[in-house]
Amino acid sequence: MITVQTDIGDSIERAQYALVPSHKFSFSPALHEADRLLGRDWEHLEPDPYMADGGLYRFRRYGLFQLSASSGHLTHIPGRSFYQSTKINPLNGGDHRHFAPLAEDTIENPFLRELILFDLAQLTSKKHIEDDWLIGVHQIRILATNGVQGNPTPEGIHRDDETFTAQHLFARHNISGGVNHFYGSGRKPTRRPKAVWKQESYFDSIYFDRSQWHSVSPIASDKGDGYRDVLLIDFVESSKVH
Ligand SMILES: [Fe+2]
Repeated sequence: MITVQTDIGDSIERAQYALVPSHKFSFSPALHEADRLLGRDWEHLEPDPYMADGGLYRFRRYGLFQLSASSGHLTHIPGRSFYQSTKINPLNGGDHRHFAPLAEDTIENPFLRELILFDLAQLTSKKHIEDDWLIGVHQIRILATNGVQGNPTPEGIHRDDETFTAQHLFARHNISGGVNHFYGSGRKPTRRPKAVWKQESYFDSIYFDRSQWHSVSPIASDKGDGYRDVLLIDFVESSKVH
């Protein structure tokens, strides 16, 4: 079981984002082994071949799930691409991107499956939504090498197209930077960020909805390789997908 000592749904309702440090979460011992195994996946991601800036610093895997509102069943949908419009992502949008799939073990990982349901329950705790959900799971590593930065959000300040997004830090090693910035939910981003937070510890987590402008600063490493590993889970109601 996963529990959290803060009302994420309330923060989403009031501010459209929530910053939740790792010490607020608790995992039951039964999930520890699955959690450990999931963390090892980041050693086996594949290069992102769609980087329009020519960057070789992003590694990832992607999978899509469907959650049935009537049965509560979470089903993996194999072979799906990931699409963003150029409006949402001027840099890399406009193409169906076929990323390396999640590993078979990952699709069945009990910690991942419980986390998907947990995150959605937090995000929708203040809403009544009777719809199936399409859920994208992205395992992403941004690499920084000697003198070469990695950029977690090469598209700059942007909004995501999905109804809700959860992002959990899995690892941060030998880097500076990688700071989250939030710029409000108006028609345009605020001139100055409304919130700034660097995730440092395993499972420091952020949640936000589609209205929230956000970016993450580049990462750099002075000595050898460094990296920032995150798990992104995005949620959109099936009826809003065309
Ligand atoms: Fe984003």
